[in-house]
Amino acid sequence: MIDPPIYYDKGHIEFLQKLWGDGYLSPGGPEEVQRILGVVKLSKATVLDIGCGSGGITVSLFNDYGAHKVIGIDVEADVCEIAAERVKKLGLQEDIEIVKVKPGNFPYDDASFDVVFSKDSIVHIENKEQLAKEIFRVLKPGGHFVGSDWLRSNDDDPSPEMLHYLKLEDLGFEMASPNRYTHALAEAGFQDIFLSNRNRWYTEKARQEVLKLSKLMRQEFEDMSSKKFMDLTVETWNAMITVLETGEHCPHHIKCKKPNMAQESDKL
Ligand SMILES: C[S@@+](CC[C@H](N)C(=O)[O-])C[C@H]1O[C@@H](n2cnc3c(N)ncnc32)[C@H](O)[C@@H]1O
Repeated sequence: MIDPPIYYDKGHIEFLQKLWGDGYLSPGGPEEVQRILGVVKLSKATVLDIGCGSGGITVSLFNDYGAHKVIGIDVEADVCEIAAERVKKLGLQEDIEIVKVKPGNFPYDDASFDVVFSKDSIVHIENKEQLAKEIFRVLKPGGHFVGSDWLRSNDDDPSPEMLHYLKLEDLGFEMASPNRYTHALAEAGFQDIFLSNRNRWYTEKARQEVLKLSKLMRQEFEDMSSKKFMDLTVETWNAMITVLETGEHCPHHIKCKKPNMAQESDKL
């Protein structure tokens, strides 16, 4: 089997964490994690974090939200190493496991988790239908899937502007529409499916980010990379802002629930 490409090596992790905060490979920091979780409680829950990256959020799900146990899975070696170091430094190895997995089905039994969480990672997974079925399978009845992801407003061919952005970004994004996600989750058996568009929020954030990258923190970023890298990065961010402004790039929060079998059969 061919190894999957490496997108998040140590240099890329360092760059993203400088932009988004230690342990965060996606925008919004702890406040956005709180908004994603909303009313879903993690207290005493066993949680799966799909695409845990460098582990800041995985740790926060345990430390700040009272999860009983968190398993962070990821497909890349460098992120897993950094996340595992973070957990070890905090002495939380009994409570938080970081597991490097192969892309595809999760190596967990049916009904293993109370909550499945994911932030801005499933954009890398092409088969949303299979993913939805897998999340459903590993959740306990009554459990929640809650997360965020980078979506595209429709499933038609991407616009030339989107193709230009995706080419520059070059991270193997497999963006799908809110309709496709909703359908995949419903087909898998989820109920109470709720998607909320974060386009306006991230458009504003991305404008602030490009200002940091091009001016406010340009020298700091250039010192840790190169002028060439930063020129390309600013070009990529500007291309992303174009498709955010048209609405085609539309990050969403996603929430849904696996029916509680006992409750459902009580209704019959
Ligand atoms: C943008 S980062 C987000 C990381 C983290 N959730 C955060 O917000 O800081 C995306 C992560 O998804 C991981 N990833 C890509 N494909 C994956 C897959 N099939 N299963 C699990 N993780 C995957 C990448 O290796 C990367 O660490």
